[in-house]
Amino acid sequence: MKGIILAGGSGTRLSPLTKVTSKQLLPVFDQPMVFFPLQTLIKAGIREVLFIVAPDHAGDYLNALGSGTHFGCRFTYEIQDKPAGLAQALSLAETFVGQDSCMMILGDNIYDHDFSEAVQQFTSGAHIFVKEVDDARRFGVVEMDENKHVLGIEEKPEQPKSNLAQTGVYIYDEHVFDIIRQLQPSARGELEITDLNNLYLAKGVLTASVIEGEWIDAGTFESLFKAAEFRRQQVCQN
Ligand code: G1P
Repeated sequence: MKGIILAGGSGTRLSPLTKVTSKQLLPVFDQPMVFFPLQTLIKAGIREVLFIVAPDHAGDYLNALGSGTHFGCRFTYEIQDKPAGLAQALSLAETFVGQDSCMMILGDNIYDHDFSEAVQQFTSGAHIFVKEVDDARRFGVVEMDENKHVLGIEEKPEQPKSNLAQTGVYIYDEHVFDIIRQLQPSARGELEITDLNNLYLAKGVLTASVIEGEWIDAGTFESLFKAAEFRRQQVCQN
Protein backbone atom coordinates (compact mmCIF):
# COMPACT_ATOMS: atom_id res chain seq x y z
CA MET A 1 0.00 0.00 0.00
CA LYS A 2 1.22 3.50 -0.88
CA GLY A 3 0.96 6.52 1.45
CA ILE A 4 -0.13 10.04 0.58
CA ILE A 5 0.21 13.08 2.83
CA LEU A 6 -1.80 16.15 1.90
CA ALA A 7 0.11 19.28 2.81
CA GLY A 8 -1.37 21.79 0.36
CA GLY A 9 -3.91 24.47 1.19
CA SER A 10 -3.31 28.01 2.36
CA GLY A 11 -3.86 27.58 6.11
CA THR A 12 -5.88 30.80 6.38
CA ARG A 13 -7.36 29.77 9.74
CA LEU A 14 -3.84 29.97 11.21
CA SER A 15 -2.93 33.36 9.70
CA PRO A 16 -0.63 35.24 10.45
CA LEU A 17 1.44 32.13 11.37
CA THR A 18 0.96 30.85 7.81
CA LYS A 19 1.93 34.08 6.02
CA VAL A 20 5.50 32.94 5.40
CA THR A 21 5.32 29.18 5.85
CA SER A 22 3.02 26.25 5.28
CA LYS A 23 0.60 25.20 8.03
CA GLN A 24 1.93 21.63 8.03
CA LEU A 25 5.49 22.85 8.74
CA LEU A 26 4.51 24.85 11.84
CA PRO A 27 6.06 23.57 15.07
CA VAL A 28 4.15 21.13 17.23
CA PHE A 29 6.33 21.35 20.36
CA ASP A 30 9.63 19.92 19.03
CA GLN A 31 8.72 18.77 15.50
CA PRO A 32 7.21 20.14 12.28
CA MET A 33 3.52 19.20 12.12
CA VAL A 34 3.97 17.02 9.01
CA PHE A 35 6.27 14.62 10.90
CA PHE A 36 3.22 13.35 12.81
CA PRO A 37 1.18 12.06 9.84
CA LEU A 38 4.43 10.69 8.43
CA GLN A 39 5.06 8.71 11.63
CA THR A 40 1.45 7.49 11.51
CA LEU A 41 2.05 6.05 8.02
CA ILE A 42 5.41 4.54 9.03
CA LYS A 43 3.80 2.93 12.11
CA ALA A 44 1.17 1.46 9.75
CA GLY A 45 3.97 -0.20 7.75
CA ILE A 46 3.98 2.17 4.76
CA ARG A 47 7.35 3.15 3.30
CA GLU A 48 6.55 4.77 -0.08
CA VAL A 49 5.09 8.18 0.58
CA LEU A 50 3.90 10.99 -1.70
CA PHE A 51 3.67 14.53 -0.31
CA ILE A 52 1.21 16.85 -2.06
CA VAL A 53 2.32 20.42 -1.40
CA ALA A 54 1.46 23.99 -2.40
CA PRO A 55 3.81 25.62 -4.98
CA ASP A 56 5.07 28.43 -2.74
CA HIS A 57 6.42 26.05 -0.07
CA ALA A 58 7.62 23.06 -2.09
CA GLY A 59 11.30 23.84 -1.40
CA ASP A 60 10.67 24.00 2.34
CA TYR A 61 9.24 20.47 2.28
CA LEU A 62 12.30 19.17 0.44
CA ASN A 63 14.51 20.80 3.08
CA ALA A 64 12.48 19.41 5.97
CA LEU A 65 11.95 15.88 4.61
CA GLY A 66 14.50 15.13 1.88
CA SER A 67 14.55 11.85 -0.02
CA GLY A 68 13.10 9.80 2.83
CA THR A 69 16.30 7.84 3.50
CA HIS A 70 16.58 9.41 6.95
CA PHE A 71 13.15 7.92 7.78
CA GLY A 72 13.77 4.54 6.09
CA CYS A 73 11.32 5.56 3.34
CA ARG A 74 11.19 6.73 -0.25
CA PHE A 75 9.53 10.12 -0.73
CA THR A 76 7.95 11.63 -3.84
CA TYR A 77 6.49 15.15 -4.19
CA GLU A 78 3.64 16.60 -6.27
CA ILE A 79 2.47 20.21 -6.47
CA GLN A 80 -1.18 21.19 -6.00
CA ASP A 81 -1.36 24.46 -7.97
CA LYS A 82 -4.41 25.82 -6.12
CA PRO A 83 -6.51 24.50 -3.23
CA ALA A 84 -9.41 22.76 -5.03
CA GLY A 85 -10.45 20.18 -2.46
CA LEU A 86 -9.06 17.05 -0.84
CA ALA A 87 -10.34 14.75 -3.59
CA GLN A 88 -8.74 16.97 -6.27
CA ALA A 89 -5.44 16.80 -4.36
CA LEU A 90 -5.72 13.02 -4.18
CA SER A 91 -6.22 12.85 -7.95
CA LEU A 92 -2.62 14.11 -8.33
CA ALA A 93 -1.43 10.81 -6.84
CA GLU A 94 -2.68 8.67 -9.74
CA THR A 95 0.68 7.94 -11.38
CA PHE A 96 2.37 7.40 -8.02
CA VAL A 97 -0.25 4.90 -6.80
CA GLY A 98 -0.69 3.00 -10.09
CA GLN A 99 -2.57 -0.27 -9.52
CA ASP A 100 -1.84 -0.33 -5.77
CA SER A 101 -4.15 0.66 -2.91
CA CYS A 102 -3.41 3.83 -0.95
CA MET A 103 -3.76 5.37 2.48
CA MET A 104 -4.21 9.12 2.48
CA ILE A 105 -3.66 11.22 5.59
CA LEU A 106 -4.20 14.94 6.08
CA GLY A 107 -0.98 16.74 6.95
CA ASP A 108 -2.50 18.46 9.98
CA ASN A 109 -3.98 15.32 11.59
CA ILE A 110 -2.25 13.92 14.67
CA TYR A 111 -3.09 10.42 15.92
CA ASP A 112 -2.27 7.96 18.69
CA HIS A 113 -3.99 5.17 16.81
CA ASP A 114 -2.09 2.30 15.16
CA PHE A 115 -3.49 1.77 11.64
CA SER A 116 -1.35 -1.28 10.77
CA GLU A 117 -4.13 -3.83 11.29
CA ALA A 118 -6.49 -1.88 9.02
CA VAL A 119 -3.77 -1.68 6.36
CA GLN A 120 -3.12 -5.43 6.54
CA GLN A 121 -6.81 -6.33 6.43
CA PHE A 122 -7.78 -3.99 3.59
CA THR A 123 -8.71 -5.72 0.33
CA SER A 124 -11.05 -3.48 -1.71
CA GLY A 125 -13.46 -0.54 -1.62
CA ALA A 126 -12.80 2.32 0.77
CA HIS A 127 -12.34 2.49 4.52
CA ILE A 128 -12.74 5.53 6.79
CA PHE A 129 -11.90 6.07 10.46
CA VAL A 130 -14.32 7.81 12.78
CA LYS A 131 -14.07 9.29 16.25
CA GLU A 132 -16.60 10.67 18.71
CA VAL A 133 -16.25 14.45 19.10
CA ASP A 134 -18.00 17.28 20.98
CA ASP A 135 -18.11 19.72 18.04
CA ALA A 136 -19.22 17.55 15.10
CA ARG A 137 -20.23 20.57 12.96
CA ARG A 138 -16.50 21.25 12.26
CA PHE A 139 -16.15 17.92 10.42
CA GLY A 140 -17.58 15.42 8.01
CA VAL A 141 -20.26 13.74 10.16
CA VAL A 142 -20.83 9.99 9.83
CA GLU A 143 -24.17 8.37 10.53
CA MET A 144 -23.85 4.68 11.45
CA ASP A 145 -26.26 1.94 12.45
CA GLU A 146 -25.82 -0.31 15.51
CA ASN A 147 -23.74 -2.77 13.44
CA LYS A 148 -21.27 0.01 12.54
CA HIS A 149 -22.49 0.16 8.93
CA VAL A 150 -22.22 3.63 7.44
CA LEU A 151 -25.59 5.16 6.47
CA GLY A 152 -24.27 8.49 5.17
CA ILE A 153 -21.68 11.25 5.57
CA GLU A 154 -22.50 14.97 5.61
CA GLU A 155 -19.79 17.63 5.29
CA LYS A 156 -19.96 20.16 8.14
CA PRO A 157 -23.76 19.98 8.63
CA GLU A 158 -25.66 22.61 10.63
CA GLN A 159 -27.50 19.82 12.44
CA PRO A 160 -25.24 16.78 12.77
CA LYS A 161 -27.02 13.40 12.76
CA SER A 162 -24.37 11.95 15.10
CA ASN A 163 -21.30 12.97 17.09
CA LEU A 164 -19.02 10.78 14.95
CA ALA A 165 -16.47 12.74 12.91
CA GLN A 166 -14.84 11.41 9.77
CA THR A 167 -11.16 11.82 10.65
CA GLY A 168 -8.35 12.58 8.23
CA VAL A 169 -7.18 9.06 7.26
CA TYR A 170 -8.77 7.22 4.31
CA ILE A 171 -7.90 3.95 2.56
CA TYR A 172 -8.86 3.44 -1.09
CA ASP A 173 -8.54 0.66 -3.64
CA GLU A 174 -7.10 1.11 -7.14
CA HIS A 175 -10.47 2.36 -8.51
CA VAL A 176 -10.32 5.63 -6.57
CA PHE A 177 -9.03 7.74 -9.47
CA ASP A 178 -11.85 6.61 -11.79
CA ILE A 179 -14.35 7.43 -9.06
CA ILE A 180 -12.83 10.90 -8.50
CA ARG A 181 -13.44 11.57 -12.22
CA GLN A 182 -17.19 11.11 -11.54
CA LEU A 183 -17.25 13.88 -8.89
CA GLN A 184 -18.78 17.31 -9.43
CA PRO A 185 -17.48 20.40 -7.60
CA SER A 186 -19.41 21.26 -4.43
CA ALA A 187 -21.10 24.61 -3.68
CA ARG A 188 -17.69 25.99 -2.61
CA GLY A 189 -16.21 24.85 -5.95
CA GLU A 190 -14.11 21.97 -4.57
CA LEU A 191 -13.94 18.20 -5.12
CA GLU A 192 -14.90 17.00 -1.65
CA ILE A 193 -13.56 13.92 0.10
CA THR A 194 -17.02 13.41 1.61
CA ASP A 195 -18.59 13.19 -1.88
CA LEU A 196 -15.92 10.63 -2.88
CA ASN A 197 -16.65 8.53 0.20
CA ASN A 198 -20.40 8.78 -0.42
CA LEU A 199 -19.85 7.40 -3.96
CA TYR A 200 -18.08 4.38 -2.45
CA LEU A 201 -21.01 4.10 0.00
CA ALA A 202 -23.51 4.14 -2.90
CA LYS A 203 -21.60 1.22 -4.45
CA GLY A 204 -21.92 -0.63 -1.12
CA VAL A 205 -18.15 -0.85 -0.57
CA LEU A 206 -17.49 1.76 2.14
CA THR A 207 -16.52 0.46 5.58
CA ALA A 208 -15.61 2.33 8.74
CA SER A 209 -13.98 1.74 12.07
CA VAL A 210 -13.85 3.73 15.29
CA ILE A 211 -10.33 4.76 16.31
CA GLU A 212 -8.72 4.67 19.73
CA GLY A 213 -6.81 7.35 21.58
CA GLU A 214 -6.14 10.97 20.77
CA TRP A 215 -7.00 12.54 17.41
CA ILE A 216 -6.24 16.20 16.77
CA ASP A 217 -6.96 18.15 13.58
CA ALA A 218 -4.36 20.85 14.30
CA GLY A 219 -5.81 23.42 11.88
CA THR A 220 -6.97 25.99 14.46
CA PHE A 221 -5.07 27.93 17.15
CA GLU A 222 -6.78 25.97 19.94
CA SER A 223 -6.14 22.57 18.38
CA LEU A 224 -2.54 23.48 17.45
CA PHE A 225 -1.94 24.36 21.10
CA LYS A 226 -3.58 21.10 22.20
CA ALA A 227 -1.34 19.18 19.76
CA ALA A 228 1.78 20.79 21.26
CA GLU A 229 0.63 19.80 24.77
CA PHE A 230 -0.04 16.23 23.58
CA ARG A 231 3.45 16.01 22.07
CA ARG A 232 5.06 17.54 25.15
CA GLN A 233 3.48 14.87 27.34
CA GLN A 234 4.75 12.14 24.99
CA VAL A 235 8.29 13.54 25.08
CA CYS A 236 8.28 13.95 28.86
CA GLN A 237 7.10 10.37 29.41
CA ASN A 238 10.13 8.98 27.53
C1 G1P B 1 -11.62 17.77 6.18
C2 G1P B 1 -12.79 16.94 5.64
C3 G1P B 1 -13.74 16.54 6.78
C4 G1P B 1 -12.96 15.82 7.88
C5 G1P B 1 -11.77 16.68 8.34
C6 G1P B 1 -10.86 15.89 9.28
O1 G1P B 1 -12.10 19.01 6.63
O2 G1P B 1 -13.47 17.70 4.65
O3 G1P B 1 -14.75 15.69 6.30
O4 G1P B 1 -13.81 15.56 8.97
O5 G1P B 1 -10.95 17.08 7.22
O6 G1P B 1 -9.78 16.65 9.74
P1 G1P B 1 -11.12 20.30 6.79
O7 G1P B 1 -10.46 20.14 8.15
O8 G1P B 1 -10.15 20.24 5.67
O9 G1P B 1 -12.03 21.48 6.76
